[in-house]
Amino acid sequence: MRLQDALSIGDLERLAQKRLPRVLFECIGSGVEDEQGVIRNETAFHKHQLLARHLVDVSKRDQSTTIFGRTYASPFGISPTGVAEIFRRGADSMLAQAAAAAKVPSIISGSCMTPPETIAHVSGGNAWFQLYAARDPNISDDFVRRARDAGYSTMVLTVDNPVFPKMERDKRNGFSVPFRLTVPLLVDALMHPRWTAEWLRNGGLPMMRTWQPYAPAGATPSEVALFRRSQNPSVQTWRDVERFRRFWPGNFVIKGLARASDAVRAANAGVDGVIVSNHGGKTLDRAPATVDALVAIAAAVGDRIVVMLDSGVRRGSDIIIGLCLGARFVFVGKATLYGVTAGGVAGARKALDILRDEVDMTMALIGCPSVADLGPDFLFENQGRVDNQAIAAE
Ligand SMILES: Cc1cc2nc3c(=O)[nH]c(=O)nc-3n(C[C@H](O)[C@H](O)[C@H](O)COP(=O)(O)O)c2cc1C
Repeated sequence: MRLQDALSIGDLERLAQKRLPRVLFECIGSGVEDEQGVIRNETAFHKHQLLARHLVDVSKRDQSTTIFGRTYASPFGISPTGVAEIFRRGADSMLAQAAAAAKVPSIISGSCMTPPETIAHVSGGNAWFQLYAARDPNISDDFVRRARDAGYSTMVLTVDNPVFPKMERDKRNGFSVPFRLTVPLLVDALMHPRWTAEWLRNGGLPMMRTWQPYAPAGATPSEVALFRRSQNPSVQTWRDVERFRRFWPGNFVIKGLARASDAVRAANAGVDGVIVSNHGGKTLDRAPATVDALVAIAAAVGDRIVVMLDSGVRRGSDIIIGLCLGARFVFVGKATLYGVTAGGVAGARKALDILRDEVDMTMALIGCPSVADLGPDFLFENQGRVDNQAIAAE
C-alpha cells in the first residue's frame, strides 16, 4: 500500500509497521502492565452510538472551532509525542508543519529532540508547548521562560506521570532509555533498511535538544537522555500549578486529569483548560477510559475552562462522540505518529486529512452541519429523554 492509498488511521499504522523495526513500532502502541488501559480507551468509544437527525440541510458543513480566542479548521489537534524522532528523523518539526498546513494545533513535547524555539518558527503560531516539569525547579522555570520568549500562546503541563510507569512490553523488547541498537534490534533493523539507512546517515541516536542546555557541557545524546531521566518524571503538586500560573502569561492547560474535583480545583487555580487524558494508556493501566471520565468533568466545570480530551481516538466519529459528551476539543497522539512515521510531513498531513474527512462525513450523516451544535442529543443512549422532548414540541 502507498501513502496516498491509505484510507484510515489503521492503514497508516500498517505503513508505519512496515518501515520500523518491530521493537520501535511496538513502542508506539504499547501500554503498561497488562495494557488494559489502551484497549479500554479505544473500546469506550465503541459503547456509544450516534443517533442521526434526518432531513436536515447538510449541504454545507462547518467543523471550524474557536478555543482560546483562535479559530482552528477542525475540532482536533496533535498531542505531544516525545520520542517521535526515533521513528522518523525530523518528525517533531514535520508534525508541527503538518498541523500548521491543516490549521490545527500541535502540542510540542517537552522531551522532543528539536528545540521549541526551532519548532515555533515552522508552526505558523499553531504550536502549543508541553512542559515536563523537572525535579530542579530552575530547569522548569527556564522551560517556561523559553516557551514564552519563543512566542508560544499556550503551555500544557502534563501531570499524569509523577513516576516512570511500568512499560513491560517495551522492557521485554529491549527498548531502553537511552535507546541503544542492541544485537536483536540490529537484526530487526537489517530487515527495515529505510529506517536503518536514515538512522545511520544521521549519526544514530538523535540529541534531545530541548534538554541539552541543562545537561553537563559536551554530553552525548545518551548522556543527555540519562540526564533528562534523572530530572523527569518528577513529582509536582498544586503549589507548582499556582507557581506556573503566576509565571506563565498565556493560556495554561493541565494535561492528564481524570477527576472532576481536580478539574474544578484547576479552574479555581486560574488554569484555562484541561485535557482529560491518560497518556493513551501509557501511565496507569487501571485508569478509566478518558471518554468515560470526561462527562463528570465537563459537567463540573461547565464553561469556566476549556475541556479537551485525548486517548484512544482512531476515527472522526470518535472525535464527534467526544464532542457530544462535553469536550470542546480533541487531540490524537498515535494517529499522527503513525502518519509521520509512514510518510513524513505528507504522512502526518494524511492522518489529519483522514480524520477531518471522517468528521465531515459523520456530521453530514447525523444531520449536524456545525460542530458547535453537537451535544448529548446526538447520542443514542439519550434517545428516550431527548426524543420525547422533541415529540412533545411537535
Ligand atoms: C510514543 C508516545 C510518546 C508520548 N510522549 C508524550 C510526551 O512527551 N508528553 C506527553 O504529555 N504525552 C506524551 N504521550 C501521550 C500523548 O500526548 C497522548 O496523551 C496519547 O498519545 C493520546 O492517546 P492516543 O495515542 O490513543 O491518541 C506520548 C504518547 C506516545 C504514544
